[in-house]
Amino acid sequence: MRFTTSAAALLLMTGMSGAAIAQDAPAMTESVQSASFAKDVWTYADPETARVSHVDLDLVTDFEGKQIYGTAVLDIAAQPGADHVVLDDNGLRIQSITDMDGGALPYTVGKVDEMLGAPLTVQLNGKDKIRIAYASAPGAEALQWLPKEATAGGEKPYLFSQGQPINNRSWIPTQDSPGIRQTWDARITVPKGLVAVMSGDKLTPDGVPTEDGRVSYRFRMNNAVPPYLIALAVGDLAFKSLGPNSGVYTEPALLDAAADEFQDVEKMIAAAEDLYGPYRWGRYDMLVLPPSFPYGGMENPTLTFLTPTIITGDRSNTDVVAHELAHSWSGNLVTNATWSDSWLNEGFTTYFENRIMEAVYGKDRAALYADLDYGTMLSDIAAAGGDDAPTTRLHGEPGATAGQLDYFKGSTFLRTIEQAVGRDRFDAYLRGYFDRFAFQPQTTAGFLADLRANLIEGDTVLEDSLKLDQWAYAPGLPDNAVHIHSATLAEVDKELAAFNAGGPVAAVDTGGWSTQQWMRFLRGIPKEQSTARLKEMDGGLNLSNNGNAYVRSAWYEIAIANRYEPAVPSLKQYLTSVGRMLLIRPLYQGLEDQGAWGHAIATDAFAEAKAGYHPMTAAMTERILAGPES
Ligand code: BES
Ligand code: ZN
Repeated sequence: MRFTTSAAALLLMTGMSGAAIAQDAPAMTESVQSASFAKDVWTYADPETARVSHVDLDLVTDFEGKQIYGTAVLDIAAQPGADHVVLDDNGLRIQSITDMDGGALPYTVGKVDEMLGAPLTVQLNGKDKIRIAYASAPGAEALQWLPKEATAGGEKPYLFSQGQPINNRSWIPTQDSPGIRQTWDARITVPKGLVAVMSGDKLTPDGVPTEDGRVSYRFRMNNAVPPYLIALAVGDLAFKSLGPNSGVYTEPALLDAAADEFQDVEKMIAAAEDLYGPYRWGRYDMLVLPPSFPYGGMENPTLTFLTPTIITGDRSNTDVVAHELAHSWSGNLVTNATWSDSWLNEGFTTYFENRIMEAVYGKDRAALYADLDYGTMLSDIAAAGGDDAPTTRLHGEPGATAGQLDYFKGSTFLRTIEQAVGRDRFDAYLRGYFDRFAFQPQTTAGFLADLRANLIEGDTVLEDSLKLDQWAYAPGLPDNAVHIHSATLAEVDKELAAFNAGGPVAAVDTGGWSTQQWMRFLRGIPKEQSTARLKEMDGGLNLSNNGNAYVRSAWYEIAIANRYEPAVPSLKQYLTSVGRMLLIRPLYQGLEDQGAWGHAIATDAFAEAKAGYHPMTAAMTERILAGPES
């Protein structure tokens, strides 16, 4: 669509409401009303001049060539007189760019930055739609192509994408910034026998046969979303319904276990809606990926992506489902405007996730997660260098927040406000917040301004007690931080104290322990242990052979710190079978910290594992193996 009149028209035409976003300027109510895009240093786009409002993909997955190819048609909303649009491109192979009549549109690909890719500048020649014929980048960061041998069934290959934060520019030519929301639709053509799923409405659940013997699937997302939420998976996928609006997709071998693990999902959706308003995305389905999926979960709209490592048979890691579901509000509905504001996604979501867990499973269970998260927050701050370390700030350099502080310092911030004003008042505020900013980007300053306007309302005593600016902008942990204590973890702490005082392994009662109890115990053991003690632990607690991937990872951290050789074979096996970064990053880092001994093991394991890792995981591991200064 062509932009003809005023800034107000741009807002109307592109579906943004008048209350747009604030720059991170002084936190004033007025700034929330200004209709400007927050500066995102991770995009080349200049959305004030010309922005993408809709993406229409028609793509073929080529498993032999490990590429996706086809066309993307972009709708552009441009300022009058704007003669070009700038897109993000990370290695795309562009065949042609034309208008809808086939007329060539001149374009240039600028200088390539290793992380950001390159600007793709297209002349508009007065047009408001452009068609790009292209193929995905060789080795595209977003995509993992798994050979059939690397799948559970072993018979069909698999492909999945991971867009957040800036990977989608390796397979979709668009403006890849969380503040530039776009509707999209797609036709994905795959080899016969494979099923395609995406993060939008499924228009053709069974696929449509093509003339040349393949199958096409069509999808649509009518809500404008940040482009990092466009996601695709293709594989031998089966589906099991879990209720009227939800279900789970995975390879057939895992389907029953997944459905059993996630059986409470409808209760979670109901609890979430009860807290903060309607779920606005239609269905809530889940896709359980192969173990190389680099994250615990990813909040792709209508279709959360999940690691299989959370399926432990005891439902103790369904907090991850609650987390990804909560992102349907904090993240997908109200989105961090830039990656400097990522705590608005992750911190809000971690808080909301815990409220869902409390509503469905009760206070004790919620306290278990919250208390463990608090401990992780403290160790993240310590590991970052303490209270003055700039990487402990919530709003900071994009991607630079240490550990999981955007999650746990962020959620502690919100919990601290909750306890100060009372739960009812805070819930009413948050519900209003999600309505006021629905389908819009949000900045840290914008949130604080809204909080002041709608919750604090000039109460200076409250304002002073909250220390909002310190929480949002300063390093370290403000002294009003609220810590929830778990009685269940206090019991574990008793076991731990006895064990750390030299008590026998046989005296530790681990019967019925959840993942979280195991984590509290294993993380509480001093890093230095004798070989005899490690042997006693491994045998007595069944660590190296444990079926729980979290337990294994926490155990290997201890084993590595002591160069405990007997654990090395199973450690190598673990590193070649699990690709979830949260679980394997500390192991590669721990090995590297052990000098030549560990470096050799890490290099060995990685050489074998690399082919099965997602490109992001491989890049992460390579950075660790290259040592601190690279
Ligand atoms: N959105 C994140 C995953 C993510 C974060 C992808 C940063 C890319 C960059 C997702 O919602 C998430 O937080 N996953 C967590 C699980 C959660 C329960 C802590 C994970 O992957 O561990
Ligand atoms: Zn998250």
